Amino acid sequence: MDTTDVTLREVMLRDGLQNITEFIPTEAKVELFRLLVASGIRDAEITSFVNPKAVPQFRDAARMAQAALKIKPEEVRVSALIPNLKGAELALNSGLRNLAFVMSVSESHNISNVRRSTEESLDELKKILDLHAEYPGLAVRVGMATVFGCPFEGKIKPRVTLDFIRRFYRLGVRNIALSDTVGFGNPREVKELAGTCVGEFPDVIFSIHLHNTRGLGLANSLAAYESGIRIHDGAVGGLGGCPFAPGAKGNTSTEDLVFMFEEMGVSTGVDLAALMEASRYFKKIKGDVSFSSAILEVGVPSPKGAMTKDGFQHPVRGRT
Ligand code: COA
Ligand code: ZN
Repeated sequence: MDTTDVTLREVMLRDGLQNITEFIPTEAKVELFRLLVASGIRDAEITSFVNPKAVPQFRDAARMAQAALKIKPEEVRVSALIPNLKGAELALNSGLRNLAFVMSVSESHNISNVRRSTEESLDELKKILDLHAEYPGLAVRVGMATVFGCPFEGKIKPRVTLDFIRRFYRLGVRNIALSDTVGFGNPREVKELAGTCVGEFPDVIFSIHLHNTRGLGLANSLAAYESGIRIHDGAVGGLGGCPFAPGAKGNTSTEDLVFMFEEMGVSTGVDLAALMEASRYFKKIKGDVSFSSAILEVGVPSPKGAMTKDGFQHPVRGRT
């Protein structure tokens, strides 16, 4: 992989589904996963090990994890969100080794989301990291929520995020996702914070998780890219949103991310036409789903200058 390439982490099966109350059958989730992998997706969050009373959509988390692990090619990385030690244990029991521990940098959103203060979440994280002794293959990513702003507290200062990152670092965490849970960030802020993070912690793998709440998802992704972040989250159809954050909207659409990066000559490894099979399939499963993706809406420009939406005869440059 070239240092200019990006990895798109597909979070539709986690973030995308958590706000959908109607239960999507496990078989349909597995088929979506299969389609995502077939399109070239090599990193995916596939479920959440959370209290099924809080998010009933993920009551099949263990089954989903087992099914995905069974069908995934070796090079595909699958992870699941966990909010606490219990989630980590359940995920590990299902065979998963890549866990995404969620914690907000804002006190009020952390309490709303996982019913804990940030200090309590840090204690929980320590216990999860201790599981390394028993599970040497365990890899914990910390998903830092509300990094640019919180629905209850407003803008969050970069210093707050950086202080948490230093604490995570001292605990041994080397994989961190910066998340703009409700779309507060602008490209300048994202570029600056991402640049500081990458500069201060060169041995940490940083990724960016953006919600397109106010239309800045793509611009913010590009800003993070320019600061050296090479793992970008996206959700098919721009689905997503935290059920415990008022005003939450979907993630940046993966289709739009593929289009932007590939048009710029940055390889994503994802075939856009194949990726669109996933949204088509999901529309069949859940007819009333509403997507938010420019590419799904108007298509890619054809070589003749016209837009093409159906069939996608004209793959984005560089892809076959
Ligand atoms: N997975 C499954 N069940 C869990 C669990 C987990 N990770 N953590 C706790 N539980 C169960 C407990 O076993 C207990 O079950 P019981 O009622 O049958 O005894 C119940 O949930 C309450 O346990 P408790 O530890 O008191 O949790 P809580 O009520 O304080 O809830 C969370 C804390 C984090 C589990 C809950 O708020 C949650 O799942 N939030 C979801 C957050 C989320 O998905 N946000 C969107 C993504 S950012
Ligand atoms: Zn999110």
